[in-house]
Amino acid sequence: MKLPAIPPYKTKVVEPVYFRSKAERMQKIKEVNYNLFNLHSDWVIVDLMTDSGTSAMSEQQWAEIMLGDESYAGSESYFKLKRAVQDILGFEYLAPTHQGRAAENILFSATVKEGDVVPGNAHFDTTKGHIEFRKAQAIDCTIAAAYDTTEYHPFKGNIDLEKLERIIQQYGAERIPFINITVTCNTVGGQPVSLQNIQDTCAIAKRNGIPVYMDIARYAENAYFIKTREEDYKDWSIRDITKAMFKDVEVVWMSAKKDGLVNIGGFVALNNPDLYEKLGQFTIIYEGFLTYGGMSGRAMGALAVGLYEGVEFYYLDDRVKQVQYLGEQLKKHGIPIQEPIGGHALYIDAKRMLPHIPQSQFPAQLLGVEAYIEGGVRGVEVGTLLADRDPITGKDRMAEIELLRLAIPRRVYSKAHMDYVAATMGRVAAKSQDLKTGFKIKKQAKMLRHFTVELEMYDS
Ligand code: F0G
Repeated sequence: MKLPAIPPYKTKVVEPVYFRSKAERMQKIKEVNYNLFNLHSDWVIVDLMTDSGTSAMSEQQWAEIMLGDESYAGSESYFKLKRAVQDILGFEYLAPTHQGRAAENILFSATVKEGDVVPGNAHFDTTKGHIEFRKAQAIDCTIAAAYDTTEYHPFKGNIDLEKLERIIQQYGAERIPFINITVTCNTVGGQPVSLQNIQDTCAIAKRNGIPVYMDIARYAENAYFIKTREEDYKDWSIRDITKAMFKDVEVVWMSAKKDGLVNIGGFVALNNPDLYEKLGQFTIIYEGFLTYGGMSGRAMGALAVGLYEGVEFYYLDDRVKQVQYLGEQLKKHGIPIQEPIGGHALYIDAKRMLPHIPQSQFPAQLLGVEAYIEGGVRGVEVGTLLADRDPITGKDRMAEIELLRLAIPRRVYSKAHMDYVAATMGRVAAKSQDLKTGFKIKKQAKMLRHFTVELEMYDS
């Protein structure tokens, strides 16, 4: 008999979970104006709001915390991280930052100017924000299949090469500082980009004299999908695949809070000394001295170890399969999800689950609130609340796809937790017909409203 698969780790330290009744949660969520960001975390039973900065670190990483060299300049922890980045990613120069968006800030400060255009596969919100903040434009060139949750495509994060060529023609290469590839593509569901597509994109970029930059927050998960879904690479090691992914890429930046298996940190890595020098000025004014950027020595040490652990096949296999397992359980409960299942999260399609709730009443937020009430499960809305208003007309932008994201922290939850989440969503599905109305906005900020918005029931 085949033995069942088990996680390649065991528990040494535990965190308590507090249980409250459904009635208490109903009261609490109303008190916080139906905004899941406003909940104190001890009111949450299974927290799937994000996989970012929520990983459990290994004993080797905790050992590095004790070994952290907190020198202002020339810290040994920085050199440990630099060696790891050189070894695993193949880039010579390293600019540490406090997290991913800070890496975007220093990198784009050096490369993006007013009137520029940055094509790519669905840019993450902070990436788009940092581009638009500089009065430049982020143009989404993801393949159309990404926006149909029912269509199977093994690499829904792929760039539509024809569209990319059209955009280059339309705007001209001189207005395009770089082409941006995000692996995996968070915005469309943690969907991977194939190695073939990366190579084709790099070839188009090269022909037009444009560099390719890569947002590598979840690059190891992307490599896992290349290994398991792209026939030519099934016998390759994860590390050989990641090397191939970066071969023609000029700059990478990373929110290390994902595949770096740490709670905070990020960086820019590159081989071009001139650009590194230019970046350095922004690192110093926005982040810190060059050998720590926004990170403590101990955090850099933990990341150096996390980068190695993050590309281990057995870790990745367990990680991605846990996400797939939850997806399969959700499907058994009849919950419509983005397919194929992505690398770090499940995306529940609220338009299909609550077709009777208009988008203007935020159906994905309603699903999130109901998941909280039924089981204390916290996800996050990726829909019309997040899409916010058009900066010019001020009108609500209806999101193309209306999703509730359940993101799985790395090495934190067990199979029992996944079953609990699926059962909770099953309860929400069972009462979906009884959910008659969604929300209306009571109060919202000028931008990035989803973090602080106050909502009330539409019928109240
Ligand atoms: N790029 C991608 C693809 C991301 O998913 C994120 C963050 C960032 C950049 C920004 O990095 O948070 O370290 O500043 N994603 C988190 C999430 C917030 O929940 O998906 P950061």
